[in-house]
Amino acid sequence: MAEIVGAYFTSHVPAIGGAIHKGLQQEPYWKPFFDGFHKVHEWLAQVKPDVAIVFNNDHGLNFFLDKMPTFAVGAAAEYHNADEGWGLPLYKPFAGHTELSWHIINSLVEDEFDITTCQKMLVDHALSIPFELAWPDVEAWPVKIVPFAINTVQHPLPSAKRCLALGQAVNKALQSWTGDERIVIIGTGGLSHQLDGERAGFINRDYDTFCMDNLSVDPAALTTDSIHEMVRKAGTQGVEVLNWIAARGALGQAPVQEIHRNYHIPISNTAAATMLMEPA
Ligand code: DHB
Ligand code: FE
Repeated sequence: MAEIVGAYFTSHVPAIGGAIHKGLQQEPYWKPFFDGFHKVHEWLAQVKPDVAIVFNNDHGLNFFLDKMPTFAVGAAAEYHNADEGWGLPLYKPFAGHTELSWHIINSLVEDEFDITTCQKMLVDHALSIPFELAWPDVEAWPVKIVPFAINTVQHPLPSAKRCLALGQAVNKALQSWTGDERIVIIGTGGLSHQLDGERAGFINRDYDTFCMDNLSVDPAALTTDSIHEMVRKAGTQGVEVLNWIAARGALGQAPVQEIHRNYHIPISNTAAATMLMEPA
């Protein structure tokens, strides 16, 4: 059976890509953030995943406001990054794991999740930045991917409870997969931030701390607020924590332990956070 080696969570601010390409990792503004990745590199080198299930959100590259799937799952052989206007260089393509995608899709539909299946899907900074942070300077990405895009952008948004259940259903699908892959779960985005409106620049350290303290030991604690209450606490874009909650669900219901955390305010407009968890 495949092995879930653990989970990696990180913010996905586009400016991080700019800092990488300008070599600013040691600058005082960036160092406290990038220093949080030494442990990530060490851990990934140790657990050696070959597949990543990635929970992220599309920011308008695939789905615009006229068509917005709540949960979209990639089933492509390859995923390309495209120009979103952030001025970042384009990333090398990401190989898909189509058989595993279809296995998960079939299992989710059987479990009554009405997902959107995407045989073509572009990936934006929400996937490329976390990959570049995790595997800097590699010629080819060392993992194949199964990407999930959760609607964190256009109301009505899914509830945190539903996102946790989605992740748990993905875990169930992985339990019946007969391959012998080493699987890492990835959740991207957050933590608190708001890019627009009257509260632009809003950050909530207390809520972020609550989320990070509970995600490993009691993820259900993150699912008791309504989605509007979450927007109020996390900010309009801080609801990207839904990706983290789904990813935590995909780790399964057996105990997990937090093995690393870094939290730094601000990176661009965002309370930037990085975590690692593995089976206890
Ligand atoms: C920023 C954060 C995001 O999550 C995003 O998708 C785009 C920009 C920011 O803080 O600049
Ligand atoms: Fe984002």
